Amino acid sequence: QYTAAPFVPERGGLPALREAAAGCRGCPLHRAATQTVFGSGDAHARVMLVGEQPGDQEDRQGKPFVGPAGKLLDRALADAGIDPAEAYVTNAVKHFKFTQAEPKKRRIHKAPTLREMTACGPWLAAELALVEPELIVVLGATAGKALLGSSFRVTEVRGTVLEREIHGRQERLVPTVHPSSVLRADDRKTAYEGLVHDLETAARALA
Ligand code: URA
Repeated sequence: QYTAAPFVPERGGLPALREAAAGCRGCPLHRAATQTVFGSGDAHARVMLVGEQPGDQEDRQGKPFVGPAGKLLDRALADAGIDPAEAYVTNAVKHFKFTQAEPKKRRIHKAPTLREMTACGPWLAAELALVEPELIVVLGATAGKALLGSSFRVTEVRGTVLEREIHGRQERLVPTVHPSSVLRADDRKTAYEGLVHDLETAARALA
């Protein structure tokens, strides 16, 4: 049974969490990844954005959502009236998982398994307990399954305000698609507008 639980400190706030997470060995993903990519942003943010896992750029830079998906997300947040600088941004899984045909070849993202998401859950639970956001924006199916269980279907609940108990706390959540799915969509304009529309629901829930 993989779990980050023994690595999570009980005291010290976000700085202590971040430092401890850098040494997490709770599942095998730390072996191939460059570094742990912990959440970033205001410790008292009103909104927490939860993605899937760091991508190639995030793995290199050590910060969530700094690559192409992050750039698109920032633009969509701004278009929806949410200041990206006022959000806390994190991922369900804190290490980059990838396949690579040969050394030096491109690293291709691989979706984390349920075991890996569950193993990493104690970090997300600790972030939620410290930041205490008023609203969680769930970015895509992996984040949804990590927070709401394996029956989560993004198409069924996107753009709605859910109220659920998560890790013992009552939370409000607005699910939407993952920004990477917009980059991959055949019709990017429509996909982007859908993302912004969902984020507008989140902006209203915060008003
Ligand atoms: N995709 C994610 O889910 N998270 C990141 O941090 C970057 C890309």
